[in-house]
Amino acid sequence: MKSEGHIESLRIDERSRRDFLIVSTSTLAATGVALSVWPLIDSLNPASDTLALASTDLNLRPIERGQRVTVVWQGKPVFVDRRTPEAVTKAKADDSAALPDPEKDADRVQREEWLIVVGICTHLGCIPLGQREGSRRGDFGGWFCPCHGSHYDTSGRIRKGPAPRNLVVPPYAFPNPEKLVIG
Ligand code: FES
Repeated sequence: MKSEGHIESLRIDERSRRDFLIVSTSTLAATGVALSVWPLIDSLNPASDTLALASTDLNLRPIERGQRVTVVWQGKPVFVDRRTPEAVTKAKADDSAALPDPEKDADRVQREEWLIVVGICTHLGCIPLGQREGSRRGDFGGWFCPCHGSHYDTSGRIRKGPAPRNLVVPPYAFPNPEKLVIG
């Protein structure tokens, strides 16, 4: 026969186990959320404290091929696109297409795997879609500005719609292979 003290300690144990499960679940849920939004949070981390600074640093190591992240530089969104070989091939092949604002892909990148452009449509300043996986990228696989229908290609060049200019390439440097400094 169990004593009252033993029964009470069992209740406490059960409560503790329940609490532990709740805490574990919450922790896991929080971890899951953290992982799924990591690229955005990580890329936005410098935003608040670097808003007024001249440059923004980004660690490139966690960014996979085909992944795009957004950082903030001087209050503006900057799209960092680690391009796939297919995207690079497409951008180069389109050097000879009829371009509203002619520029060769090689003149817009320092390392062809990395395209860095200011994420502001050159028509009236909307932020184009295409950064998130599954979002609309327009007819040329780059970015699409839904405000008035401008389509940019995989080099950030305007290809269709009212925008007059290509997405702007900001000043940037790679101090080492895994670090990008914008500004
Ligand atoms: S602001 Fe982008 S199409 Fe008008």
